Amino acid sequence: MHAVSISDLRKDFRRRNGRRLRRERVPALRDVSFTIERGECVAVLGQNGSGKSTLVRLLSTLLLADGGTARVFGHEISRDSRAVRRLVNRVSVEASFFKKMSSAENLAYAARFYGMTPAETGPRIPEILARVGFPAERRGEPMENLSRGMQQKVALARALLTSPVLLLLDEPTTGLDPRSRLEVRALVRDVRETHDATVLLCTHDLEEAEALADRIGILDGGRLVCLAPAEELKRRYGAATLEEVFFAATGRALEDDEEAAD
Ligand SMILES: Nc1ncnc2c1ncn2[C@@H]1O[C@H](COP(=O)(O)OP(=O)(O)OP(=O)(O)O)[C@@H](O)[C@H]1O
Ligand SMILES: [Mg+2]
Repeated sequence: MHAVSISDLRKDFRRRNGRRLRRERVPALRDVSFTIERGECVAVLGQNGSGKSTLVRLLSTLLLADGGTARVFGHEISRDSRAVRRLVNRVSVEASFFKKMSSAENLAYAARFYGMTPAETGPRIPEILARVGFPAERRGEPMENLSRGMQQKVALARALLTSPVLLLLDEPTTGLDPRSRLEVRALVRDVRETHDATVLLCTHDLEEAEALADRIGILDGGRLVCLAPAEELKRRYGAATLEEVFFAATGRALEDDEEAAD
C-alpha cells in the first residue's frame, strides 16, 4: 500500500474578478496524480501560488477537493477524513496556538488531544523542544512573546511529538535562521529513521529539498510537471542544478511570483 496515493486531484477557488459580480473559477490544482511510498520523502517545489499549500491542505482534510481522489494509507481523504487526520500532521506558517499559553503547555495540550498520557509526554516535551533548537529557558514563556521563527520551531516540535505517520511540511524552515534550518533538517531525517515517517515537504529552499527528499516534484500553475530523484531531473533537463531544472521545466525562475508572471 502506498503512504499517499493521489489521482487526478483538482481544486478550484472562486475569486471575484475586478468589478464583475460573477466570481470566476481559479484552478489551484489541476489533475495532480502521484504516489508516495511509505518512509519516503517527497519535496514539492513551486512558485508562490502554484498550489503547494492547497495540496497539503487537501491531504490534511482542511479543504475539500473538486475532483479526483487522494488516499492516505488507503483512507480516502473525503470519505474517511477522521482516519486520515489521525495519521497526518501538518506544519505550516499559519500554525495556531493558544497565545497566552507557553510552548510546553501548547505541546502538552496537543499530546492530550492525540491520546498521549502525561507520563508519556512529560520527559518528551523538553526533549523535543531541545531537538528543534528551542531555548530551554523560554519554555515557560507565552507563545505571543515569541518571534515567528521560535513559533515555527514549536509548531515543528508539536508535529513531531505525536509521531505522525505522514508529516506534511509546508515551508517548515521559512523564517528560521541558518542554524535552525540545519537543526530542522536533522530532525526530519531523524523522524524518518526512527519512526518510519513519510514526509511531503513543500519548500522554496532548493538546498533543503535536495538534502532531504528522495524525489522532487515541481508544481507549475497547479500542474505537477515532473516528479523524480534530483539527479534524474538534472539528467532529464540537462541541468547542473535544481534551479536550472526548475527553469527548464517551467520556463520561469522559482523565486518569481506565478500570479505576477501570468
Ligand atoms: N482560500 C482561498 N481562496 C481563494 N483562492 C485561494 C485560496 N487559497 C489559495 N488560493 C489560490 O490558489 C492558488 C494556489 O495557492 P497556494 O496557497 O496553494 O499556493 P502555494 O504554492 O502554497 O504558494 P506560496 O509559495 O505563496 O505559499 C493561488 O492562486 C491562490 O491565490
Ligand atoms: Mg504555500
